[in-house]
Amino acid sequence: MPLDLRARQLLVEESLRRQLDAEKDCPSTLAEAMGYSLLAPGKRMRPILVMLSAQACGGEEHQALPAACAIEMVHTYSLIHDDLPAMDDDDLRRGLPTCHKKFGEATAILAGDALLTLAFQVLASSYPPATACGCSLELARGAGACGMVAGQALDLAWEAGATSALPRNLESLERIHAQKTGALFRACLRMGTWVAQGERPGGPDRGTLEAVDSFGRCLGMIFQITDDLLDVEGTEEQTGKRVGKDAVRGKLTYPGLLGVAESRQRARDFHERARAALAPLQGRGDGLIAIVERLLERSS
Ligand code: IPE
Ligand code: IPE
Ligand code: MG
Ligand code: MG
Ligand code: MG
Repeated sequence: MPLDLRARQLLVEESLRRQLDAEKDCPSTLAEAMGYSLLAPGKRMRPILVMLSAQACGGEEHQALPAACAIEMVHTYSLIHDDLPAMDDDDLRRGLPTCHKKFGEATAILAGDALLTLAFQVLASSYPPATACGCSLELARGAGACGMVAGQALDLAWEAGATSALPRNLESLERIHAQKTGALFRACLRMGTWVAQGERPGGPDRGTLEAVDSFGRCLGMIFQITDDLLDVEGTEEQTGKRVGKDAVRGKLTYPGLLGVAESRQRARDFHERARAALAPLQGRGDGLIAIVERLLERSS
């Protein structure tokens, strides 16, 4: 199916800009740092997934825009903090100097904190109560101590050599990837379901949530495998970030563990599983499948 990613990116960016502009009392340097990272040229993959998931679950894409903005705020916060010297210590992100290089570490930390918090403000102020609550719960779970933050902690523990609880094998790697990246993808898809079905008596349909969950697990794996591959094979011009750093830092990655060819094959296997996962949606998930196909080919 034709998938107009550009039009959706523009819609998301316009909406993000509006959400930021509404924060009138924000100190100017903090506002500048938040806007710098949030509006830098990202792919907007997660917001687009929220929109496509809402549509796949019987809703309208435009209803999903606040939830789409919320997840992009959380994702951007995670990138700002991921790049800090105490974490991956990176100086290039989305083709620009990282937030802490541009504004200093303290402002970068605060910009991350503010974006994380603003995400929940946007949800609470944009949706009726059941939908706001459902979306907040999904986002908090995906981003928090058993989701993305857990994955980041494991990723860093591995790098630091604290690997006794996490042997160098596929199971550990998949656990790190599932939490570090998969948990937020799962939140995107589940938020789409809540946007479409949150006000129904009893909330979203269980079977639909299960279908988008298993799709999300596959999507998250494909996404992080291709991110790891781009760190080995991509260029800074394509990715907008430094490459070749995972091996230098001793990260546990797919190509590091299995090699490039086997990693690529694994990503293709997850594609098959992703298609199968959405079979219960009977064709309404075609946009989501098209995204997976783009991801397998991605160079940024
Ligand atoms: C990068 O995410 C961080 C990972 C989870 C691997 P993206 O590749 O989606 O980054 P942007 O949003 O396009 O900059
Ligand atoms: C970061 O993974 C994932 C999150 C920010 C949660 P990476 O450290 O691999 O992301 P990049 O490669 O710096 O974008
Ligand atoms: Mg990292
Ligand atoms: Mg990183
Ligand atoms: Mg990476």
